[in-house]
Amino acid sequence: EKGGYEHFMLKEIFEQPKSVHDTMRGRLIVDEGVIKMAGIWDHVEKFKNANRIIIIACGTSWHAGLIGEYLIEEYARIPVEVEYASEFRYRNPIITDKDVVIAISQSGETADTMAALKLAKEKGAFIYGICNVVDSSIARITDAGSYTHAGPEIGVASTKAFTAQLTILSLIALKLGNHNGNLGNAEFMRLISELDAIPKKIEEVLNTTHELTQNIAKDFISATNFLYLGRGYNYPAALEGALKLKEISYIHAEGYPAAEMKHGPIALIDENMPIVIIAPKKGHYDKIVSNVQEIKARKGKIIAVVNKGDTQVSAMADYVIEIPETSECFSPIVASVPLQLLAYYIAVYRGANVDQPRNLAKSVTVE
Ligand code: F6R
Repeated sequence: EKGGYEHFMLKEIFEQPKSVHDTMRGRLIVDEGVIKMAGIWDHVEKFKNANRIIIIACGTSWHAGLIGEYLIEEYARIPVEVEYASEFRYRNPIITDKDVVIAISQSGETADTMAALKLAKEKGAFIYGICNVVDSSIARITDAGSYTHAGPEIGVASTKAFTAQLTILSLIALKLGNHNGNLGNAEFMRLISELDAIPKKIEEVLNTTHELTQNIAKDFISATNFLYLGRGYNYPAALEGALKLKEISYIHAEGYPAAEMKHGPIALIDENMPIVIIAPKKGHYDKIVSNVQEIKARKGKIIAVVNKGDTQVSAMADYVIEIPETSECFSPIVASVPLQLLAYYIAVYRGANVDQPRNLAKSVTVE
């Protein structure tokens, strides 16, 4: 059932061209220039008139939520807040019937997310679910929702569910933005064809980085720490890259917005610190270049995820992972793939049980 792969995690990483495509299927109709999403369309006035959208989630799904915030605020211009479900439920948050609360959950069973949703519902908010498991508890209690059609995710470390969540959030942001007039038709058309091309780009990345990430992984089997840095849309992608590494390899890793480095983490950088930098051309590239210079000056070991043909960051990096260009807002979908592979191979070479990491459960049904 692992389809010839050594682990479910690797199988699921490789399924992403298909799972992202499946998540868009029947929704993104490029020829007609439309996004069809019944869950959104049936309640579009709720979204349009919302004071704000609050996204609640845990773990990887929370990282997807952060990217959702960037997407929805940029394209639909609706204020968004993203909260850990576990914090939201216990801090007596201000919620009204003018709020839309979106829960993101692969399993649809996460106890904290469920409890946070119930609280929001009691306070009169419209609650929306982005779940992968059909008919799960969260999918059932929400007023409406959109399933990610990633298929069953067995590996404890979330991979294809994450990229499917980003796909749904992209569709929602573009749909709402085009509907409420903040995203003009020409830009909408450009973005939906970019999104449509993402499965092909993931395929390409899998082909071009599979062996490369294995080779890089071999050099970091004994690392004790890692930093992951990104800016803009790729800041949450850095958080997610770090989470993947720590949960399956048991190497301490932290994700940071690259510019925050000088406010603390830069003190950690020396020749023993591997630093993964996500630096695609679109999205604060020049700023990232100066961050990389600062790291280089302190002899950090740089693993850079850059676009094909990159020169500036690549010239300073110890390891270069090239990915195809796309719009900044979709770049985390593509950039996450080699980071998943890197974490996977580091964990495998360390002899870890990648599908069933110690202390973790696939669905966290207790708080
Ligand atoms: C990370 C991971 C966890 C989950 C988190 C939320 O790889 O698996 O961090 O993302 O427990 O789970 P769901 O999305 O099922 O609510």
